[in-house]
Amino acid sequence: MRTVRIGLLGLGVVGSAVAKAILDERGMSQRSGVRLELVKAAVRDLSKQRSVDLPDGILTTNPADVVGNPDIDIVVELMGGENPAFDLISRALSSGKHVVSANKEVLAKRGGELLETASGSGAKLMYEASVGGGIPILNPISDDLLANRIDSIRAIINGTTNYILTRMSGESAAYDAVLGDAQRLGYAEADPTADVDGFDALYKIAILGQLAFGTSVPIDGIHREGIGRIDARDFRYADELGYTIKLIAAAQRTDVGLLLRVHPSLVPLDVPMASVNGAMNMVEIEGDLVGPLWLQGAGAGPSPTASAVLGDVLNIARELGSPAAENSSQSPLPLAPMSGHTCQYYIRLTAADQPGVLAQIAKMLGDANISIRSVIQMDTDETSGRADLVIMTHSALEANMQEAADRLRGLEVVVELDNLIRVESYGQSQ
Ligand code: NAP
Ligand code: HSE
Repeated sequence: MRTVRIGLLGLGVVGSAVAKAILDERGMSQRSGVRLELVKAAVRDLSKQRSVDLPDGILTTNPADVVGNPDIDIVVELMGGENPAFDLISRALSSGKHVVSANKEVLAKRGGELLETASGSGAKLMYEASVGGGIPILNPISDDLLANRIDSIRAIINGTTNYILTRMSGESAAYDAVLGDAQRLGYAEADPTADVDGFDALYKIAILGQLAFGTSVPIDGIHREGIGRIDARDFRYADELGYTIKLIAAAQRTDVGLLLRVHPSLVPLDVPMASVNGAMNMVEIEGDLVGPLWLQGAGAGPSPTASAVLGDVLNIARELGSPAAENSSQSPLPLAPMSGHTCQYYIRLTAADQPGVLAQIAKMLGDANISIRSVIQMDTDETSGRADLVIMTHSALEANMQEAADRLRGLEVVVELDNLIRVESYGQSQ
């Protein structure tokens, strides 16, 4: 049986799980026909307590012991961040070493350059674990779905925010405490603002968009909003209206190009995504032949991510895998502006509880060509004379909605426009 030698860059949450799975073996060599040997693992701090026991001589603080090591066949990058990951992956690929990475930030920002380096040297670069944790998603798009023209990808693709939103929805749990739990469980990024502000989901939808639509996606062309404004009241009101709230990342073919967006959305309670809870992710793909396809599984956490990392490692080791590369035969789409997106909107605002207020708000929306589907006066505070109003609109143009929102904020009777959340459209369910 052939032995393939592995070098790790990073031995944190994911790196430790990968190292443990290699060392425990668990019949992996019998299933795959190759034996993996862990040769080196680069870290920053040798004195740190690790969750895996390594044989002597494996740990190093010098990444060159991995990327420049002639005894290593496959470099597995699990450090995170753009730098020094980009330089180290480039060095490994240039010297002909295959690379597996879970690092969506470096792949979304510099993936094109890395794939070019790989094709120049003949090395493989695979990164299944960078999107959707343990869910196989990039390799199915590159291989199994190749006969399809993909029209739409919509996903819950960040485990940390889905875990936070689920706990806020189910137990009205406090945001900070829940984020702390997500960090302890190994779901969050080293800097968790990448999760809660939507950057992690943005990197992932950029990678998916590039792969599925053959279009180079500059990350500043993606509309992004995080979950910071969502509070317990939004969940309560959404539930009364038949929805829950999820952070959605989407890449959709439109008449004017590819629209990419990341933002919280109201999702109807009767569609599959509404029941994707905790750190679970779901990717919904619409292909012209296959129709709608839902892939669901653990989107974060050490073992599921190690499963995806080692799947790529074994594919390369068996020389059966094809790189998750851009499908260069597709004609690239231009990027479509968010201002052209149309959807229904949930508007929550605090307004003066007095005659004529609704009429003023309705006129402002009507002037912007936005039609109201329902208005509900939720909580009323008689002492302050204020009420929570929740307005659901019919389908409207994003540019019109943003203009109306600015005007509503300027109305004297509107104390605060607390939240404006888009509603995901699911055909007949609305
Ligand atoms: P982590 O726990 O913060 O681990 C990072 C590791 O990289 C640590 O071992 C750290 O060393 C090492 N490292 C960082 N900078 C280094 C440098 N300059 N030189 C040498 N070593 C360095 O991160 P993680 O959660 O395992 O995530 C790793 C990657 O996987 C990230 O790209 C992340 O986005 C991605 N990912 C994570 C998950 C998940 O559920 N956590 C899922 C999918 C993908 P020390 O230990 O000495 O500090
Ligand atoms: N921080 C990421 C998440 C890890 O919560 O989804 C998986 O990529």
